[in-house]
Amino acid sequence: MNSRKIVLVLGGSSDIGRAAARSFAKAGWDVQLAGRDGAALEPDAADLYARYTTNASVHRFDVLDTASFDSFAAGLPALPDVVISIIGLLGSQETAQHDLDHATTIMRSNYEGPALILGLFAEKFLARGGGSIVGVSSVAGDRGRASNYVYGSAKAGFSAFLSGLRARVSSSGVHIVTVKPGFVRTKMTEGMKLIGPLTVEAPVVGDAIFNAVQRQSDVVYVSSKWRLVMLIIKSLPEAVFKKLKF
Ligand SMILES: NC(=O)c1ccc[n+]([C@@H]2O[C@H](COP(=O)([O-])OP(=O)(O)OC[C@H]3O[C@@H](n4cnc5c(N)ncnc54)[C@H](OP(=O)(O)O)[C@@H]3O)[C@@H](O)[C@H]2O)c1
Repeated sequence: MNSRKIVLVLGGSSDIGRAAARSFAKAGWDVQLAGRDGAALEPDAADLYARYTTNASVHRFDVLDTASFDSFAAGLPALPDVVISIIGLLGSQETAQHDLDHATTIMRSNYEGPALILGLFAEKFLARGGGSIVGVSSVAGDRGRASNYVYGSAKAGFSAFLSGLRARVSSSGVHIVTVKPGFVRTKMTEGMKLIGPLTVEAPVVGDAIFNAVQRQSDVVYVSSKWRLVMLIIKSLPEAVFKKLKF
């Protein structure tokens, strides 16, 4: 019988997803990679095997196709020990202001889909008596800002869902982590002006996710600087905050 632990990475094609898969694989875990284009994940699975002799399987998963969630979970080769949702869509705030379809896709990709699939695995973990769920949310969800409140509000909903789920299962063997990465240099932020000291590379987030699971952390700001920044932003009175157009 295979005694190696298994992590399921939803959003395996993202830079943060790849980094998280490697962090678990190098610690001896097997990996299930899931994404919209299952075939595109094959080279990643081969790479994990070549580097760490990881057993890595690939699975097709679309977070907008909620009707497929039950069969997706049932089709996995084994119920994982840890599920991480790294799925997200920044989209365009400007477009979302007048295009309801785009706004809906941002909301569903960052809140509805990730919350529903993690909730589904939480029930399976409760029935088994253990497991860890990791949701990659965002500091953007800590306060709605003028420049990205469609994305930010969806991340806020996701963080609130994880918070409630964590409270509900706190005395079971199931553990829920919310990860708030801050700025990360990835495909999502390509071409954006990021503030150097507040920006990390994807492998730092991958390791932070792995450590959060090991330590059974609750809410992780990958850079502690972001915890302070958001504390200040959250404490600004609304009369002042509404004049800031960032
Ligand atoms: N980069 C940052 O500064 C930053 C900061 C805070 C939080 N985050 C969060 O970190 C996570 C990863 O972001 P990233 O920076 O690594 O960006 P990314 O490369 O754009 O990752 C987004 C991931 O979500 C997947 N995805 C989007 N829509 C999907 C759908 N309908 N079904 C299945 N998968 C879908 C993408 O898959 P495809 O490859 O198929 O598109 C990709 O794997 C996101 O949740 C993001 O919100 C990032």
